[in-house]
Amino acid sequence: MVERNDHLRLNRYDHYILRMRRVASGFSPIVALNRRSGKPLHKQVYEAFCAAIVGRNLRPGQRVPSSRFLATELKISRIPVLTAYSQLLAEGYFETRPGSGTFVSSSLPDQWISLERGQSASPQVRSARRVLSKRSAVVPSFRPLPWINRWGAFIVGQLAFEHFPFQIWASLVNRHVRNVRVNSLHYSDPMGSETFRSAIAQYLRTARAVSCEASQIMIVSGTQQALELAARVLLDPGDKVWIEEPGYRLARNAFALAGCRLIPVPVDAEGLDVAAGIKQCRGARAAFVTPSHQFPLGVTMSASRRLQLLDWAHRSASWIIEDDYDNEYRYESMPISSLQGLDRHSRVIYLGTFSKTLFPSLRLGYAVIPTDLVQRFLAVRNAMDVYPPHLYQAVLEDFIGEGHFARHIRRTRLLYSERRNVLVEAISKEFGAGIDVLGADAGVHLVATLPKGLFDRPISDAAAHQNLWLWPLSTCYLGRASQQGFILGFGSTTPRQMPDAVRRLRHIIESQ
Ligand SMILES: Cc1ncc(COP(=O)(O)O)c(C=O)c1O
Repeated sequence: MVERNDHLRLNRYDHYILRMRRVASGFSPIVALNRRSGKPLHKQVYEAFCAAIVGRNLRPGQRVPSSRFLATELKISRIPVLTAYSQLLAEGYFETRPGSGTFVSSSLPDQWISLERGQSASPQVRSARRVLSKRSAVVPSFRPLPWINRWGAFIVGQLAFEHFPFQIWASLVNRHVRNVRVNSLHYSDPMGSETFRSAIAQYLRTARAVSCEASQIMIVSGTQQALELAARVLLDPGDKVWIEEPGYRLARNAFALAGCRLIPVPVDAEGLDVAAGIKQCRGARAAFVTPSHQFPLGVTMSASRRLQLLDWAHRSASWIIEDDYDNEYRYESMPISSLQGLDRHSRVIYLGTFSKTLFPSLRLGYAVIPTDLVQRFLAVRNAMDVYPPHLYQAVLEDFIGEGHFARHIRRTRLLYSERRNVLVEAISKEFGAGIDVLGADAGVHLVATLPKGLFDRPISDAAAHQNLWLWPLSTCYLGRASQQGFILGFGSTTPRQMPDAVRRLRHIIESQ
């Protein structure tokens, strides 16, 4: 059972619990001594600490360096430092904890408190004109929406973390931390570790029918970085991009941030309506699609639509960005082959992630790049974050190579399949024909549509007060929502909890 509070608590793995908020320690604040001024050194040290505390560069509870250490750093005798420290202690700026050292006081003098109560540390900031890029205003402000990043029933993106093999993972992390190789510490290949890429290439060729070699795979910090990278390499400001309607908000944001014009193309029972896209904007430079399991509606793109889309891209020299985010979880049929595997003209950039199979905070994913574009992607990536961090690539390479990844997917597929069945049954029992379920064949979420006359936003807000996290379907539309409903995650809700959660959902809807 996974509980959530400020610090993740995994009961079965108590050693992962972070019990206390730690404060940074051991760093000296800037103490600019002027040996030629008439001011005594102890006064200068005292004033430097007061200024750092009042200016909030030093925070309550933060450890301060020992007098011996600070004296050595400042190249002065210990006496002025001791004098300054005893004055700071006497005035309540510092406190000592026996056996631990000296800290900035957690109960502060008046001067500090008045700052806390609203005076800005730098008032000139408010009055000055502060010009930002127009581009940064293109994406909506980041607000913690009630149905995202919470903990509880129906949260989208949350998985059965309690079934993750943390002990194996920890032993692999340990292995790599203990046996550090010098070349893993230095700057490395912007594509990512070659052996890790080989492991991914093998997996993609076998399990996803992706046509690729390791040399085409770039390791990224999740799909989001791959989208940003692809936009920078393939598109210019003003270029038009087809996006699915309804669709994945973070993909929209990535293209909008690159200055692209978004063309919402409707999704029907066969996936993206290619003919509608051509009618709206034949000359779009790219199309973003989730063909295996459309986000959010869950449709699988039909074979004829796939061929139509590839044909359009070939004829109009456009790019297809295929986001294959959760195809490992398919319940009613075998996994669907990738669109990239059907592409005969190298028009598809294929993106995958470990956020849905392992855990999102890993921030690891990959892009499969057409061979002739690899050099451009490399150059642009090198100008962005240089190259991906090494440690978790090495850990995941072993996790895949030693069979743990395949085993984890097999186990969780059964688990999620059961959770999905219980959810579908509970919806049918509670709502009968009142609610339609869409996209339950794959992934770790499904969509429940609302009957006409009901609106998803107010219901989601009401549900959030009862710890039910319903992602309103209407928020996935760029234009006017043609359907109201909820995206319901079932990854982290156990079969025992599910019927009660659905019953509570019915009460909330009925009370609207
Ligand atoms: C449609 C879609 N694509 C990709 C991702 C994964 O994104 P990332 O790899 O950046 O965590 C998600 C995660 O929720 C998603 O819903």
